[in-house]
Amino acid sequence: MSTFLYTLLGLSVGASLHCSVRREISPCTCRVQEPNSNTILVACERMISFTQVVEALKDKFAPDVEISLRIAYSRMDDFFNHTFQELGLAVTDLKLNHDNLSSLPESVFAGLGRTEYLSLADNSLPEVPNHILQQMPVLKTLDIGRSRLQAITDKDFQNMTDLQHLVLAGNNISQLDQSSMPHTLRHLHLGRNKLMHLNDTLRGLTELEWLFLNGNQLTTLDEQLPREGNKLALLHAGSNQLQKLPQELQNFILLESLFFQHNELLNLGGTVQRARNLKRLHLCHNKIQEVNMIVNEFTELDSLEDLQLGHNQLISLNGSLAPLRSLRCLNLTNNLLQEFSLQDIQGLKRLRIIDLSYNKISHLSGRMENLVEPETRIVELRLDHNLLRTLDGALMGVHGLQKLNLSNNLLEKIAPDDLIGLEDLRILDVSFNRLTTLEETSKTFLPSLEQLYASHNALTALKQDFHGLPTLCRADLSHNQIQSIGRDLASKTHCRMHRLLGVLRVYLTGNMV
Ligand SMILES: *[C@@H]1O[C@H](CO)[C@@H](O)[C@H](O)[C@H]1NC(C)=O
Ligand SMILES: *[C@@H]1O[C@H](CO)[C@@H](O)[C@H](O)[C@H]1NC(C)=O
Ligand SMILES: *[C@@H]1O[C@H](CO)[C@@H](O)[C@H](O)[C@H]1NC(C)=O
Ligand SMILES: *[C@@H]1O[C@H](CO)[C@@H](O)[C@H](O)[C@H]1NC(C)=O
Ligand SMILES: *[C@@H]1O[C@H](CO)[C@@H](O)[C@H](O)[C@H]1NC(C)=O
Ligand SMILES: *[C@@H]1O[C@H](CO)[C@@H](O)[C@H](O)[C@H]1NC(C)=O
Ligand SMILES: *[C@@H]1O[C@H](CO)[C@@H](O)[C@H](O)[C@H]1NC(C)=O
Ligand SMILES: *[C@@H]1O[C@H](CO)[C@@H](O)[C@H](O)[C@H]1NC(C)=O
Repeated sequence: MSTFLYTLLGLSVGASLHCSVRREISPCTCRVQEPNSNTILVACERMISFTQVVEALKDKFAPDVEISLRIAYSRMDDFFNHTFQELGLAVTDLKLNHDNLSSLPESVFAGLGRTEYLSLADNSLPEVPNHILQQMPVLKTLDIGRSRLQAITDKDFQNMTDLQHLVLAGNNISQLDQSSMPHTLRHLHLGRNKLMHLNDTLRGLTELEWLFLNGNQLTTLDEQLPREGNKLALLHAGSNQLQKLPQELQNFILLESLFFQHNELLNLGGTVQRARNLKRLHLCHNKIQEVNMIVNEFTELDSLEDLQLGHNQLISLNGSLAPLRSLRCLNLTNNLLQEFSLQDIQGLKRLRIIDLSYNKISHLSGRMENLVEPETRIVELRLDHNLLRTLDGALMGVHGLQKLNLSNNLLEKIAPDDLIGLEDLRILDVSFNRLTTLEETSKTFLPSLEQLYASHNALTALKQDFHGLPTLCRADLSHNQIQSIGRDLASKTHCRMHRLLGVLRVYLTGNMV
């Protein structure tokens, strides 16, 4: 999420290009933001006073050069004695971070009429310094994250006619006055505060595109989202106490990302049914029992790529995934599924990762071979921590499968048919099962298998068990009951790493060899 935010705030991580006054401004440093740009980044860290900053920078740059100034990890006890005006700089971006600021004298901030970006994050401000904001008429971005704000009043952002990006994350805000938020906001971060209710503050924000409300104590969003305008593309309300989603969500047809993990949702109530642009839907750690209890929730989600439903109480999927034609990652870990039918993913040609770990699956049904189009290439399938006793040949021919995790099940044997056609399989984990032999497995040819994990089973002997595994490099067989190892176990195996000949490593601790 943080790289996301940096992009949002327009911070750049440019190369260190030349800045001619480098020596003269020491101990501050400078570099050109980008080739051909008129902006110079000036940084002063660990200053002992504001006087030191003034002495270093005063009149060192031409007044038409745009300066992005950062003063961080510094002591500014003598703030009162100077003003930014004295620097004689055209400061467009100003960052005062980690400076232990608790009050900002108004007089100091004279001369910042061109400042569009102000960050006061990581200080100890008890309230929004609205008196200094009034001196920055063209301010577009304001970051007062991780400070000590408790309330946002109607006055705080008054007269800020161009404020578009506002970050108030990581404060202690419990009170929001009803008209406190400027209607020009496009990005708003109120995450990690103490909000229990939004108090109608967002109703008039018609331009809002990104909204972060995560990590608060919200119990409802009903009638709290912007009343008009439907530009919202991202809503993060994870880690709250929401029991249902607001019906109004249906109006936001441009939504691309919805994050509602760690709430108390029982269902989706049909709210995302029509979100045709939705790409990411994160609902893990809720109490969802049915995805199609009221209506089929996913009917029109044909852009959805990432569906996170882990740590819920789903018992069955009941065909609800069928419309998700763009789905790439399906995460159903830690639910109560008892069965998984490959029919459920029929037609999902872009699906690559399926996580079904930590369920109660005792039965796999539907054969890939018959059901799944050749274009479908599941790359990773997690089925660990379930109740599988057999695979019933269900995985036969899962095209493209590279990583298969079957650890912590009740498998007693793996039949030759079970893994047939898995030509791309590189990693197979069958550890913590009840396997007594791999002999049958060896009849399957797995031309790409490099790593085999079969520790903590009940294997007793190794004969020609690797004969179907020509490229094996690592076999973990520790903690079994192996007593004998056949002479020609690895006679047909030639480990290759990056096309060079490697060494097959076999781990056998905890056996009786
Ligand atoms: C800075 O201001 C304080 C009062 O705020 C004053 O006592 C001190 O002498 C001033 N220092 C300088 C260097 O002007
Ligand atoms: C931060 O400022 C407060 C007073 O505002 C002061 O008591 C404290 O010592 C300062 N902390 C540091 C690390 O300078
Ligand atoms: C906003 O502008 C009006 C008119 O110029 C002024 O009266 C008011 O005090 C300003 N608000 C703040 C918080 O400075
Ligand atoms: C947060 O605000 C509450 C009052 O709303 C206050 O009691 C508490 O001390 C504040 N916590 C911090 C860390 O400032
Ligand atoms: C809600 O807004 C009203 C009007 O601005 C204000 O008086 C009240 O304190 C606010 N309540 C909360 C919980 O923020
Ligand atoms: C599935 O989600 C869980 C958290 O709910 C996460 O730990 C796990 O890594 C995810 N699985 C995949 C394959 O990304
Ligand atoms: C499965 O879906 C059908 C119709 O969509 C419904 O009648 C049935 O009750 C559902 N079964 C479960 C277990 O949810
Ligand atoms: C298979 O899953 C188990 C349990 O989640 C994990 O510890 C193990 O590392 C996984 N195996 C592989 C090869 O990634």
